Amino acid sequence: MPLSGRTCRNECGCSRTVRLAAGSSLSARSWRYRRRMPGLIAPTVRLHAAWLEAHDEWGPGVHEDGFGLHPSDELDSPAGFAAWVSRLVDQSDPAKPLDAGRVHCMYRWIVEGDRVLGGIALRHASSDYVLWAGHIGYGIRPSARRRGLATWAMGRILEEARVLGLDRVLAVCAVDNVASVKTIERCGGVFEGIRDTKLGPARRYWIKL
Ligand SMILES: CC(C)(COP(=O)(O)OP(=O)(O)OC[C@H]1O[C@@H](n2cnc3c(N)ncnc32)[C@H](O)[C@@H]1OP(=O)(O)O)[C@@H](O)C(=O)NCCC(=O)NCCS
Repeated sequence: MPLSGRTCRNECGCSRTVRLAAGSSLSARSWRYRRRMPGLIAPTVRLHAAWLEAHDEWGPGVHEDGFGLHPSDELDSPAGFAAWVSRLVDQSDPAKPLDAGRVHCMYRWIVEGDRVLGGIALRHASSDYVLWAGHIGYGIRPSARRRGLATWAMGRILEEARVLGLDRVLAVCAVDNVASVKTIERCGGVFEGIRDTKLGPARRYWIKL
C-alpha cells in the first residue's frame, strides 16, 4: 500500500514525519492519533498492574530512571506498591518534611491510556546531590523509545519547573548516552562541560526557563 509522510500530531512538539497509508480516511487518521496521545500523571495505585507490566519490560532490578525506585521497594503486592506511591506523592509536596538527605521531587508517569510508557522526575530543590545528579531524571520503556516521548515529557516538566519558581535546571547524563544527550539538547540544554562522577564522566547541561 502506498505511504505518504505527514507531520506527527502526538502532542510531543516534534516535527517527525509519520507514515500513513495514502487515502486513509480522516476519521481513521484522527482515531490513530488519539490512541497515541501521551499524558503525564502523578503516580497512582490505579495503574499497579500496568506499572508491573512496564517494569517487566525493563527487566530485573531498579534501573528505571525517573521513577524514584529504591532497591528495598516491594512493588508486587498492593500494599508494597501503595507504600511506594505514597512516598513519591509525599516527596512531591514542598510542604512535607523529608528524611535527612532527601530532596523534594515531583514524579510523573508518562502514560498512554492505561499503559505506562515511562517516568520523569523533577528535583525542585537545590542540594549537593542535585548539583551533582541534576534536577531531572527520566526513562522510557524500551518498546516506546524513539517516538519523541522523552523530548515531549521534558518539555512538560520544564513548564512545571517554571511554575515552581526555578529559573534554570541542570540536566546531567553519561557521556556515551547519545539518546539522552540529544533529548537534552533538543530541549534547549546549554553544554557546561564534562565532570567526573562516581558513575563515570557525565555531560552537564543547563536549561534556562
Ligand atoms: C534517553 C531516553 C529517555 C530517550 O527516550 P526517547 O523517548 O527514545 O527519546 P526521543 O524519542 O524523545 O528522542 C530524543 C532524541 O534522541 C534521539 N535518540 C533516541 N534514541 C536514540 C538512540 N538509541 N541512538 C541515537 N539517537 C537516539 C532521537 O532521534 C531524538 O533526536 P532528534 O530529535 O534529533 O531526532 C531513553 O533512551 C531511555 O529511557 N534510556 C534509558 C534511561 C536513560 O538513559 N535515561 C536518561 C538518564 S540521563
